[in-house]
Amino acid sequence: MVRLKWENKKDFSGRILENTQYYKDKFKKIKITTFNSSKKLIKGKETTHWTNKLIWGDNLKVLYYLLNDFKEKIDLIYIDPPFFSGTNYHIEIKSEAREFNAIAYNDYWKNDLDSYLEMIYERIVLFKKLLSKKGLIFVHLDWHASHYIRVILDEIFGQNKFVNNIVWHYYNKYSAGKTNLPRAHDDILVYSKTNKYTFNELRIPRDKPIKQLKREMVNGVLKNAKDENGHVIYRTVKDKKMDDVWRIPCMQPASKEWTGFPTQKHHELLKRIIKLGSNKGDIVADFFCGSGTTLLTAEKLNRRWIGCDISEYSIYLTRKRLMAYFENNKNSFKDDHPFELYTHLNDERVNIINSGFFEKELAIRRKK
Ligand SMILES: C[S@@+](CC[C@H](N)C(=O)[O-])C[C@H]1O[C@@H](n2cnc3c(N)ncnc32)[C@H](O)[C@@H]1O
Repeated sequence: MVRLKWENKKDFSGRILENTQYYKDKFKKIKITTFNSSKKLIKGKETTHWTNKLIWGDNLKVLYYLLNDFKEKIDLIYIDPPFFSGTNYHIEIKSEAREFNAIAYNDYWKNDLDSYLEMIYERIVLFKKLLSKKGLIFVHLDWHASHYIRVILDEIFGQNKFVNNIVWHYYNKYSAGKTNLPRAHDDILVYSKTNKYTFNELRIPRDKPIKQLKREMVNGVLKNAKDENGHVIYRTVKDKKMDDVWRIPCMQPASKEWTGFPTQKHHELLKRIIKLGSNKGDIVADFFCGSGTTLLTAEKLNRRWIGCDISEYSIYLTRKRLMAYFENNKNSFKDDHPFELYTHLNDERVNIINSGFFEKELAIRRKK
């Protein structure tokens, strides 16, 4: 079997149990939201009481923490990690009192591909452990590293668990490059845990309706359908089976969904992913949640969800986005309080929480 090698590739399988036990009690619920205690009834599921979870912290620790209660329980994992782009993503933050710049997240690795691969590798091993038997994982990358990560996914999930390489073609992104063709797509690598996974066929509208021969089964054989005069019958088809090339624009600041987060993904992309690979009530997780696109989309599609990010700005934006959604739809939630926030408290986080950071009115914008 082909395996990717890099400097200091570690075998950490012997530490998994120890780490899982170590992080068991490390993440605590924090009360910074009026939606702070929540019970959501999911019919037909073994868990009748459920609270969506937004977790602030390094996802490696979060994954070990979750392994205590969520082993083989998560039905769909989508991740949109740093791409090894060599750039840090900056934001401008304005409050009533002051204006300052910050880094939304780092993706600068000093060209050290080994460290980047090591970072992803351990997490992918843990994702597989959390994924349910019917689960799918969607790993969103671009040309910088998708070819390496695909080999890692083959190693961990198995080559025969490869489902698709979805090409997200974003046709509206400006490209200044003169020495190569404009790079206008990302790769979303899809793998399953077993051969029996949730896969819902999706159909999308055609640009123009087409006339198609009507077909019917006759004695187990597919034939052209005919009318009483023996003439073939045509039907007008307005949609088609969705394939693995998705034409969806990049998010634009003019969109009402725009949060100001530099690499916010389009909600339409997440809508397709979640509908394709999960059903109502399933648990969807995003461990690099950024501005919370996956979590909000999962909520709208009636899935349970777990989200995580290391940055307070991401947690701020995600919480704000979800709270605005719940506020605007409160009639449909009644007494249901839809999510709780958890973190692994340390001095820095205590200071941020005590400063009232999450309750502040902040305007966050991508810095060019
Ligand atoms: C590309 S962005 C995700 C954007 C998101 N899909 C959206 O639509 O807004 C990557 C995110 O991963 C987070 N991140 C990077 N390393 C992390 C880690 N070790 N643990 C948790 N989050 C991490 C960053 O803070 C950043 O918010």
